[in-house]
Amino acid sequence: MTDDKSTPVDDTGEELTQAELEDDTAGIQQIDRSEHVEQSKDALVVVDEIYAGYSPEVDILHGADLYAKEGELIGIIGPNGAGKSTLLKSMFGMVRVRQGAIRLRGEQITNLKAHSLVPRGVGYVPQTNNVFGQLTIEENLEMGTYLKPKKFAERFGFVTDLFPVLAKQRKQRAGSLSGGERQMVAMARALMMNPSVLLLDEPSAGLSPMMQDEVFYQTKQINSAGVTVVMVEQNARRCLQICDRGYVLDQGRNAYTASGADLVNDPKVIELYLGTLAKAR
Ligand SMILES: Nc1ncnc2c1ncn2[C@@H]1O[C@H](COP(=O)(O)OP(=O)(O)OP(=O)(O)O)[C@@H](O)[C@H]1O
Ligand SMILES: [Mg+2]
Repeated sequence: MTDDKSTPVDDTGEELTQAELEDDTAGIQQIDRSEHVEQSKDALVVVDEIYAGYSPEVDILHGADLYAKEGELIGIIGPNGAGKSTLLKSMFGMVRVRQGAIRLRGEQITNLKAHSLVPRGVGYVPQTNNVFGQLTIEENLEMGTYLKPKKFAERFGFVTDLFPVLAKQRKQRAGSLSGGERQMVAMARALMMNPSVLLLDEPSAGLSPMMQDEVFYQTKQINSAGVTVVMVEQNARRCLQICDRGYVLDQGRNAYTASGADLVNDPKVIELYLGTLAKAR
């Protein structure tokens, strides 16, 4: 949305030719939105060409698209700073959307705040600081049902079926838990309100390889229990292996989108986003 009309130049300051301009897409292809428009019609949650950012004059997202059909597990990958967290925050009313729309079951939810989104069925687990360290596991989970306290017992049963360790350690302070356990508390708290769609920002970040496996397994379990999941992951390969569809976000735009299996085997995606480790496997 920035209105930069200056002549495009290369690194040395030379003016770019039209051919160079067309070629110089920095790995970003021109996206044909028709598939998104067609496929997203009956989706549970739809993000349509949104522009959003933190300061009025700078857009971080430049027309990002996303949809998740009921029951899908969606993965969002991309380099650091691509705007992945900003996309989830925009979906949860934490970053102002300047243009474009977000819809849930066809209803406009653009720029609604958490207190309106949670009762509509949107849950969100931020990338960092996602538990109350001073509170016990049980108190953290109670915070999850503050809008419907009578639902606590039923929801506690649901989340502790998924994460049995949380029931056993319910009186323990969240701040004293391991990173993996804290991540469980954060996901469980979001699940306490019985969301239709759960937005997860890098749930495996900072965890040991074993705990990462656990988190991917749990995310799949949550999804199998009927919750639509939109997950951002730095661990791109693992994310694409478990998700139904994936999006590669680059510089605030969709660079690629396909099934997780297609993306993880796509030479361009491997070269640009999955790194040398992926090639070696
Ligand atoms: N609170 C903020 N205020 C201003 N700019 C921000 C803020 N948060 C993020 N940004 C900027 O927005 C851009 C996108 O950040 P974002 O956190 O969405 O990236 P990301 O894809 O989630 O990266 P990472 O993989 O490192 O988590 C970056 O340039 C970042 O510096
Ligand atoms: Mg992020």
